[in-house]
Amino acid sequence: MGYFFSDQEILMPSNLALRDHLLSRRSVGIAFLREPGPSEDELNTLLTIATRVPDHGKMTPWRLVIISGDARREAGEKLAEIAARKNPAMDEASLEAERNRFLPAPLTIGVISAPRENPKAPEIEQVLSAGNVAFNLLHGAHALGYGASWVTRWFAFDDEAASMLGAREGERFVAFVHIGTPSAAIEDRPRPALEDVVSYWKAPTA
Ligand SMILES: Cc1cc2nc3c(=O)[nH]c(=O)nc-3n(C[C@H](O)[C@H](O)[C@H](O)COP(=O)(O)O)c2cc1C
Repeated sequence: MGYFFSDQEILMPSNLALRDHLLSRRSVGIAFLREPGPSEDELNTLLTIATRVPDHGKMTPWRLVIISGDARREAGEKLAEIAARKNPAMDEASLEAERNRFLPAPLTIGVISAPRENPKAPEIEQVLSAGNVAFNLLHGAHALGYGASWVTRWFAFDDEAASMLGAREGERFVAFVHIGTPSAAIEDRPRPALEDVVSYWKAPTA
């Protein structure tokens, strides 16, 4: 005991600011995320927070792809090209929506699940670890004073689009986390009633 931690750290005192953050965090819709985005230092902090997640087998079964600056428009153009080829009937408004997929947020971070064979950590656990990365991006963004939203959209599930955005064979995007400064105050959404989702286990009677 105490090899890595000071006595104070072992005690883990309550952290009311963290509690309040966890009680109030909510997504900010992608249309409401504007400049400024995180600075380079903040981005490093954000990525460090995001990659500090539970990971059975210490496999690091995920990767992150940053889409920012001019790359946002370029990625959107490529998405529009793929969408138009797959669906020639698409109208100009829909194509423009594809071009703007990574706008107006100053920063989007794609989270790729990259599971590998491991008898101790089945694929679902590795995918969940990637989900933790995405959720920690939301927490990290909010902790730094930004808004964020986790979306997937069609290009997470379309092999050609996912590959264009950086997924390799056997990998898939589990999140595109859009991050920026909220342009509006965001109403919370209804949350589940605890009695609907929580029960106490009881031993089966028969
Ligand atoms: C895996 C995953 C994928 C999602 N993909 C989308 C999406 O493509 N489009 C969308 O509008 N919302 C999507 N959402 C939901 C948004 O993140 C939604 O705004 C969120 O549930 C709001 O909850 P919060 O306020 O607790 O963050 C997704 C959520 C998850 C967990």
